[in-house]
Amino acid sequence: MATNIVWHKHEVNKQTRSDKLGQKPRVIWLTGLSGSGKSTLANLLEKKLFEDGKLTYLLDGDNVRHGLCGDLGFSDKDRVENIRRISEVAKLFVDSGTIVLTAFISPFQTDRDFCRNLLQEKEFVEVYVDVPLAVCEQRDPKGLYKKARNGEIKDFTGIDSTYEAPVNPEVHLEYKDESAEATAERLFNLLNEKGLI
Ligand code: PPS
Repeated sequence: MATNIVWHKHEVNKQTRSDKLGQKPRVIWLTGLSGSGKSTLANLLEKKLFEDGKLTYLLDGDNVRHGLCGDLGFSDKDRVENIRRISEVAKLFVDSGTIVLTAFISPFQTDRDFCRNLLQEKEFVEVYVDVPLAVCEQRDPKGLYKKARNGEIKDFTGIDSTYEAPVNPEVHLEYKDESAEATAERLFNLLNEKGLI
């Protein structure tokens, strides 16, 4: 635990950076089961925002676990620490004026709320990528559900590890049998209609 530390106020700050960039920094937090399409959607959404002239950054589950969170596994305790670190990083990006997209299973409501509470009102946009377990398992893009069912992976979300669906997300992206591009378009429109981007 760090002691004897003080907070330094800087002249160039979130407000001055956002004014210069002409955008409202925020975190668009995608949560959902493995295989629900979070990474694909976040990637397509980032492309749209970037092409629209926005400064963006995508924090993605698998990628972050190659570095910043490479020491963490999938126990409840490690998942909590994973989301805590990502939340703090996301807050730094928001301070830089950036629109951050995150794609993590983030299975626990208290951890998603932790990130929300680090930020100011309207800066945290929770998006529930609501794809039924049966559909995710059918897709099984990485073959992980099969391994989990065979007992080769333990603590797999939706199988033997809990997923808590968001209680009151800003956006509830319901499942439709459509292309990833069409879903990303639907998400982009929902965020726009609600004045969230
Ligand atoms: S969490 O719960 O938010 O900490 O998980 P996250 O950092 O998003 O990592 C999820 C990706 O890790 C792979 N993987 C697992 N997922 C769930 N449970 C277990 N046990 C597990 N082991 C590995 C999997 O590829 C997840 O990626 P997505 O994109 O969600 O399918």
